[in-house]
Amino acid sequence: MIIESIVTTTNSDGTGNLSPMGAVFGIDRTILELRPFSGSRTLENLRQRMVGVVHLVDDAMLFVRSLTDTWEERPPMQLATVVAAPMLKEYLRAIEFQVKFVDDSSHRANVMCEVVEQHIGRPPRGICRGLNAVIEACILISRVDFLPASEIDSQIPGLQKIVDKTGNPQDIAAMELLLQHYRKLTSSGSAGNK
Ligand SMILES: Cc1cc2nc3c(=O)[nH]c(=O)nc-3n(C[C@H](O)[C@H](O)[C@H](O)COP(=O)(O)O)c2cc1C
Repeated sequence: MIIESIVTTTNSDGTGNLSPMGAVFGIDRTILELRPFSGSRTLENLRQRMVGVVHLVDDAMLFVRSLTDTWEERPPMQLATVVAAPMLKEYLRAIEFQVKFVDDSSHRANVMCEVVEQHIGRPPRGICRGLNAVIEACILISRVDFLPASEIDSQIPGLQKIVDKTGNPQDIAAMELLLQHYRKLTSSGSAGNK
């Protein structure tokens, strides 16, 4: 099972890095696997520091701002309790982990991690198709470097419709910001996120 999450790690200059990542959990959730692409800051930070925090969240804007690195204000952070890594103050679950093994022999690394602490935060808002549609759009746009534009462009209108019909105002604003970012990337011809 893959849970789309926000992973926090520490950059080489000591600042915190937030990145949307899929986390693959083992059945009893004592281990997890991350699959960062080579060249991502998350992979570099995990290699250097060997620790981080996976956050389960239901805030579409957090996914969009972490992906695009366009913060009006960065979300409140704190130090994790067991590992030396930054952790969000607001989350549904925060899962501190220690890296046990990195296999970076392919373009997408396998990072095996041991869960060392878990925190339960506020209750989830429940299943919302609008939120899920923003996440799907984020994933598509995060792959702008290697997906054909036609594949992205053909899926956006359907996702937009779901967001408009079922999302809350934050989901709608997050989708708008994401699409602005996408239009900027495609009009400047410089694909890539962050
Ligand atoms: C929901 C979601 C899941 C993602 N999962 C991954 C992933 O598993 N591995 C990866 O390398 N990138 C993934 N991405 C793309 C990264 O978030 C994106 O490339 C980001 O810019 C990497 O940031 P970083 O360089 O700070 O690590 C995902 C994006 C989204 C929106």
